[in-house]
Amino acid sequence: MTNKFTWYGHATLGLETSGFKLLIDPFFTDNPAATVSPDSVEADFILVSHGHGDHVGDTVPIAKRTGATVISNFEIASWFEEKHGLEKTHGQHVGGGHKYPFGYLKLTLALHGSKLPDGENGGNPCGFLLTTNDGKKLYFAQDTGLFGDMKLIGEEGIELAVIPIGDNYTMGPADALRAVKMLEPKVVIPIHYNTWDLIAQDADAWKELVEKETKAKVVVLKPGESFSV
Ligand code: NI
Ligand code: MN
Repeated sequence: MTNKFTWYGHATLGLETSGFKLLIDPFFTDNPAATVSPDSVEADFILVSHGHGDHVGDTVPIAKRTGATVISNFEIASWFEEKHGLEKTHGQHVGGGHKYPFGYLKLTLALHGSKLPDGENGGNPCGFLLTTNDGKKLYFAQDTGLFGDMKLIGEEGIELAVIPIGDNYTMGPADALRAVKMLEPKVVIPIHYNTWDLIAQDADAWKELVEKETKAKVVVLKPGESFSV
């Protein structure tokens, strides 16, 4: 069984696992890096890490068109239900896991903000640790600064880690290297960079540095490209 991961630019991710299609932080409209239209993507589940506009993105129209279930923290899941009329939502909170048909999903710590686009309180931001039905652990850090508890996440045995390197709003390249040292993933994919000039980074230089200093293999994708684990 393979798990097909796709990077759509910025922090917008796709994952096909156990025959289900997942979208994470589906920001297509106004995303200069996106190669796909929000009118054409398919989803069974949509995961939203925090309330910022570049992560809530096109969740509402995609969920309404596809009937996907939206998974987020309790505050954001309730906001989608009460403010946008989404009927299929599932709220969790940091540290809590739930068994879905596509695998076991735990919300992880993230050091960041989470105000929703209309100014409402979006609760605490999170990352996602997914244990697939074939037992692989995939970690999606989404927007976060470096935190020492990445060591605890690494203790779970990470197959694939997807982490930000853009700096300014999230970890930059130097802290992202320290994150890899704590997470010890087999494979790491950098995201949340080059969307705008403010978060421009040289991912190939980062790959060289990480592969010299750790055992992780770095896969640098272009927006729209996929990688299977
Ligand atoms: Ni953010
Ligand atoms: Mn962001």
